[in-house]
Amino acid sequence: MTTSAIADARERIASHLIGREHELELTLAAVAAGRDIVLEGPPGTSKTTMLKAIAEEWGIPLMFVEGNADLTPAKLVGHHNPARVLREDYSADNFVAGPLVEAMQQGGFLYIEEFNRAPEDTLNTLLAAMADRSIAVPRVGIIQAQPTFRVIASMNPYDSVGTTRLSTSVHDRLNRLAIGYQDEEAERGIVALRSQVSGDLGQQLIADAAAVTRATRRHPDVRQGSSVRGAIDCVLVAEQLAGLRGVLSHEDQGYQPLVYDAMVVALSGRIHLDEAAETTPERVLREIWEDHFILEPAAAAPG
Ligand SMILES: Nc1ncnc2c1ncn2[C@@H]1O[C@H](COP(=O)(O)OP(=O)(O)OP(=O)(O)O)[C@@H](O)[C@H]1O
Ligand SMILES: [Mg+2]
Repeated sequence: MTTSAIADARERIASHLIGREHELELTLAAVAAGRDIVLEGPPGTSKTTMLKAIAEEWGIPLMFVEGNADLTPAKLVGHHNPARVLREDYSADNFVAGPLVEAMQQGGFLYIEEFNRAPEDTLNTLLAAMADRSIAVPRVGIIQAQPTFRVIASMNPYDSVGTTRLSTSVHDRLNRLAIGYQDEEAERGIVALRSQVSGDLGQQLIADAAAVTRATRRHPDVRQGSSVRGAIDCVLVAEQLAGLRGVLSHEDQGYQPLVYDAMVVALSGRIHLDEAAETTPERVLREIWEDHFILEPAAAAPG
């Protein structure tokens, strides 16, 4: 693909994304260079959104795989249909391709979320396929990858439970892009786009939900705060509460308590406290709410 074709693709993809110009450019460059990459960032930081947009733009199939302890090499590669094997014996014909083989044959992107949760032998199978661009499947033969086949992995840097410590040999075979949270303006834009609320009340809810969600990431007792998904849900829940309680404006008395209630529903399960912290998600949210509305009310004004 020519540089100008890639530049055109970048413009078109950017029009479906809020922000992320830099991350998009770097990911596109790696993929256009024929390389595999791991996107490393906390939840909700546009990894899937960006990749879907790239795959769509190029008309390339995207195969999703969740990395976890159950992702055996056989699940990734594929298996022979046992009923047919009994009747017909093993053959290439009764092989059911797994996502890796499918992506190789169709020239798709194999997108492995939570890559570092996959067992080591699965990672090794994948590394061999990436290095050789082909894979030997017993009783099927050698499967060659189409030129557009790519492996895109994602992982959460805060993740420590149930993860494989990736060896240097894994890291040495992948490019890497570290992705952080969006800035506040972009998060407001994402929340507005996904929640579709409108009016003055809606605008204020979007600004408040984005601000308090961002504050969960800075709180000293929190190991990992909420992603933008929490802010989206906070707005949606708050909008329903406003209807139920007859709250029409952010100047109504009931507005601030309503935001707190929506925060508890949308955010309490999405914040992960430090092991040593002697508090609860509700208490942390209360502090954030008080800071936002009582200590720094100026910061609550929509911008
Ligand atoms: N740049 C963006 N433009 C528009 N919507 C976005 C953007 N980033 C995220 N979103 C929205 O936010 C939500 C989470 O984004 P996404 O699924 O891309 O995150 P992710 O990085 O893949 O997270 P995870 O690590 O949890 O899989 C989705 O609903 C998505 O539509
Ligand atoms: Mg994702």
